[in-house]
Amino acid sequence: MPATASTLLGGLAPASFLRRHWQKRPLLVHRAIAGFGGLLQPADLFALAGRDDVESRIVLRERSRWTVQQGPFRKSHFKNLPRRRWTLLVHGVNLHLASGDDLLRRFAFISYARLDDLMVSYAVPGGGVGPHFDSYDVFLLQGPGRRRWQFGRQRDLTLRSDLPLKILARFSPTSTHTLGPGDMLYLPPKFAHDGVAIDEGSTYSIGFRAPSAQELGTAFLDWLRDRLALDDQYADPGLAATLEPARIGKGIYAQCAGMIRAIRCEPELIQRFIGCYLTEPKPQVFFDRPGHPHGLRMFAVEGSRRGVHLDPRTQLLYDDDRIYINGMAMDWPASDRPELKRLANARRLCGGDVVGRSWVQLLHHWYCDGYLDYD
Ligand code: SIN
Ligand code: CO
Repeated sequence: MPATASTLLGGLAPASFLRRHWQKRPLLVHRAIAGFGGLLQPADLFALAGRDDVESRIVLRERSRWTVQQGPFRKSHFKNLPRRRWTLLVHGVNLHLASGDDLLRRFAFISYARLDDLMVSYAVPGGGVGPHFDSYDVFLLQGPGRRRWQFGRQRDLTLRSDLPLKILARFSPTSTHTLGPGDMLYLPPKFAHDGVAIDEGSTYSIGFRAPSAQELGTAFLDWLRDRLALDDQYADPGLAATLEPARIGKGIYAQCAGMIRAIRCEPELIQRFIGCYLTEPKPQVFFDRPGHPHGLRMFAVEGSRRGVHLDPRTQLLYDDDRIYINGMAMDWPASDRPELKRLANARRLCGGDVVGRSWVQLLHHWYCDGYLDYD
């Protein structure tokens, strides 16, 4: 992995890249993945964009007029588009394509907790989404075709208010580079950029997640509400008569406040929430259970012969206290820690690691839920 990561980063060791570039300055790498011809043919991407569990959109430009169409799209839709100046964007390609998940995992020198998704765009000449900025880090890896990127750090991030997509009102790029197949550009958050296709081609965007405090706080309160179990009840056996029935008395405040203060936010609870939040599948994700799942005994035989791998949609993370899988927390099993860590980090296990009664039971459970499968 270190050799691959450093090729990907233009000869930089991951630690040097993180110190010099991550969230600081762009990095352009020629031949980050030599010979990279993309993972999907345009027809495959159009097919993905036809699914209602896949988020996709088309951005069209006619002079200064921009139009956005939301998917899913029928195949015939693409035949009626102009020859120039449009692009199709498909999000979460890693969830549907094992090679897309593998591409994301090439960036494993950064915690999986920070990885978001692989977005693939297909553009005809002149196609692009216009000058904009993203609030997260992104690696833009060019597949087939060439694309001209202009980018720069600018203070003025005002957006045009008259358009259906986020386009900068003023764009003052300081760098221009043309990327060909296998070239890659890293951009830190809030860097203004614009990529315009020179030829028909595809760009693979490896995006990172960076929730806002508002997003995280709202998710925490939702999570907490689902787990709230307060058993106290308002009571006032010593109630005295009042001459001002409209007044909220101090006793009412005190008792209600005491009941609310019983809601605790201990660090342990917050830690558990964060693990669940980071592994929560995206709303459009559903797991396919095997049609005729093998029973435990057969699973143990096949698993130890072939090995297993996580489904691309599965999120499996851990900390010192717990493991988190697809939005659920579990205590560490008493044994089997190294195998579980190997499965979470490498996302696959060789057959030799699929042994041991309680461990195989857990793997079988995940297999029946569609969270993993045989290699
Ligand atoms: C694209 O692939 O067209 C857009 C990627 C980006 O600018 O973030
Ligand atoms: Co962008």
